[in-house]
Amino acid sequence: MNRYMREFVNTTGELLDSDQVRMMGQWKHHGPITTLDHSLFVAYLSFRAAKALGMDEVAAARGGLLHDLYLYDSKDKSAHPGWQCFDHPRAAARNAEGLTKLSAKERNIILSHMWPLGGALPRSREAWLVDLVDTFCAGLEVFRIYHPAKLRRRLGVCPLVTVH
Ligand SMILES: [Fe+2]
Ligand SMILES: [Fe+2]
Repeated sequence: MNRYMREFVNTTGELLDSDQVRMMGQWKHHGPITTLDHSLFVAYLSFRAAKALGMDEVAAARGGLLHDLYLYDSKDKSAHPGWQCFDHPRAAARNAEGLTKLSAKERNIILSHMWPLGGALPRSREAWLVDLVDTFCAGLEVFRIYHPAKLRRRLGVCPLVTVH
């Protein structure tokens, strides 16, 4: 683990240890990549970029980590009522609020991360950043350019399986 990784773990530690975050490791998000691996990838890159750009790296890391905390199998039509594109940011914000005290900025990062495909308008530089980083990471994952399980292992985060 390098210095930046240690800082990231210190910033998000209580969330990284939570069952809710680790549970994301049981659902696939992009191809073979789990929602946990994707969320850590987005959170870590957002944290690094926010730090480099003099932005709020705590909100970027926490919002990035929780942006897909919807906690269901996206292919299971009975798990959510409408379009995944619109439903999942709202489900993620609801679950995140149950897990930690979210700032207004962090809540908006989660709700707006699908913009312009759905959800709220990003209302801070950090929300725009996470929206952009999410798209960038999804591209690397979908085209198999990078598998973020490597990053998860380096950060020492273990997935938690609760459904079989
Ligand atoms: Fe998402
Ligand atoms: Fe995402």
